[in-house]
Amino acid sequence: MTVKLLAFAGSTRNGSLNQALLELAVAEARAKGAEVTTIKLKDFALPLYDGDLERDAFPQAARDLKALFVAHHGFLIASPEYNGSVTSVLKNAIDWASRPTDGESLVALSAFRGKVAGLMAASISPFGGLRGVTHLRQILGTIQTIVATEQVLVPAAHGAFDENWALKEALPAQLLGGLAARVIDLATRLEPPVG
Ligand SMILES: Cc1cc2nc3c(=O)[nH]c(=O)nc-3n(C[C@H](O)[C@H](O)[C@H](O)COP(=O)(O)O)c2cc1C
Repeated sequence: MTVKLLAFAGSTRNGSLNQALLELAVAEARAKGAEVTTIKLKDFALPLYDGDLERDAFPQAARDLKALFVAHHGFLIASPEYNGSVTSVLKNAIDWASRPTDGESLVALSAFRGKVAGLMAASISPFGGLRGVTHLRQILGTIQTIVATEQVLVPAAHGAFDENWALKEALPAQLLGGLAARVIDLATRLEPPVG
């Protein structure tokens, strides 16, 4: 079985440290045999979640994003923490993708149930985005995604990358390989339905 992973960052800005971290994890996962689709949440132009919008005209961008989630075994996510939690852009994407479509039951959670996630954060603080990743772990667990126990935090991330966007320290680079391996292993064991 070829494990299919969807990779995205919780920051949309150009020069995002988390986007750089994500790309290193994507390279590790590909080297270990996974098929990885990388997306940028900015490209989906999701409106803020609104129940009226959901009822009257479920946004096509949300439908497209959800379809991508459904079509993969798991996720690689690198996100900064904003004010001690997940970023609003990431939470909004998760909220839309968690909603039922096409006659699904309210608790179908087809974008998340039985999927696997590997989490990372790069932060300018000494704590490496730990609070955001911890919240994200809880959110994904609530919607039935198995989150790998491994995670990669890069503190003081503004000084952590060299001019080629490689990590200067060996340890986080090694941890990225371990995270990618665990996500692939979990996805293989779970063999969730895709599509
Ligand atoms: C609204 C906002 C809130 C932030 N809150 C935190 C925080 O709680 N903890 C932290 O470590 N960094 C925080 N930061 C700083 C981010 O770590 C820093 O901007 C980082 O570079 C963002 O990731 P990016 O480079 O991937 O965009 C915050 C930044 C913004 C814009």
